[in-house]
Amino acid sequence: MTQFDAPFQPTCVPGLARVQFRAATLYLMAGLVLGIVMAASGNFTLKGVHGHLHLLGWVTLALTGAVYTVVPDLAKGRLARWHVILHNLGLPIMLIALAAYLSGVAAAEPGIAVGAVLSTIGLGAFTLAIWRAL
Ligand code: HEM
Ligand code: HEM
Repeated sequence: MTQFDAPFQPTCVPGLARVQFRAATLYLMAGLVLGIVMAASGNFTLKGVHGHLHLLGWVTLALTGAVYTVVPDLAKGRLARWHVILHNLGLPIMLIALAAYLSGVAAAEPGIAVGAVLSTIGLGAFTLAIWRAL
């Protein structure tokens, strides 16, 4: 048996990367379904939610998960843990508040800011971890 037909070992993926990959695919599916609903209904009110479900959800979560997999030492640090917590906490707050705001609930606006700032602090921790380690 070569290394190429050995059974896949999910344990070679750091735990934090698994969280990112699993979360990323949920945002992918939510973004795709919303994209189809928008296209089918001709109502693009939530296109900002759709775009950020994909870009800050699917793309950024998966990309950071890939970085943690390529550089597993990064995933062992406290900065990485803070990144994963804050990114996954802030993003749903931001997107739910954005969906409400775009649907006419003006009171949801501060929620967008809170979620965006939490996600950005999380990604700041990711940035710091990269600069320290590489
Ligand atoms: C089933 C697949 C998809 C459908 C049906 C779909 C549908 C749409 C629709 C209807 C719009 C609004 C277009 C307009 O305003 O004229 C849109 C915008 C957009 N989509 Fe998708 N989309 C899909 C997948 C994706 C994926 C995979 C990504 C990124 C990874 C993506 C990223 C974007 C972005 C960035 C925008 C612009 C958002 C904005 O202007 O705020 N979409 N999409
Ligand atoms: C906390 C993080 C973020 C915040 C607060 C934010 C905020 C915004 C805002 C206010 C807009 C304009 C919306 C509108 O005009 O309707 C926008 C559009 C957009 N953002 Fe973000 N964004 C964030 C992260 C990202 C990331 C990480 C990406 C890509 C990887 C991204 C890609 C886009 C794209 C493609 C558009 C649409 C531009 C267009 O249609 O001209 N954003 N974002």
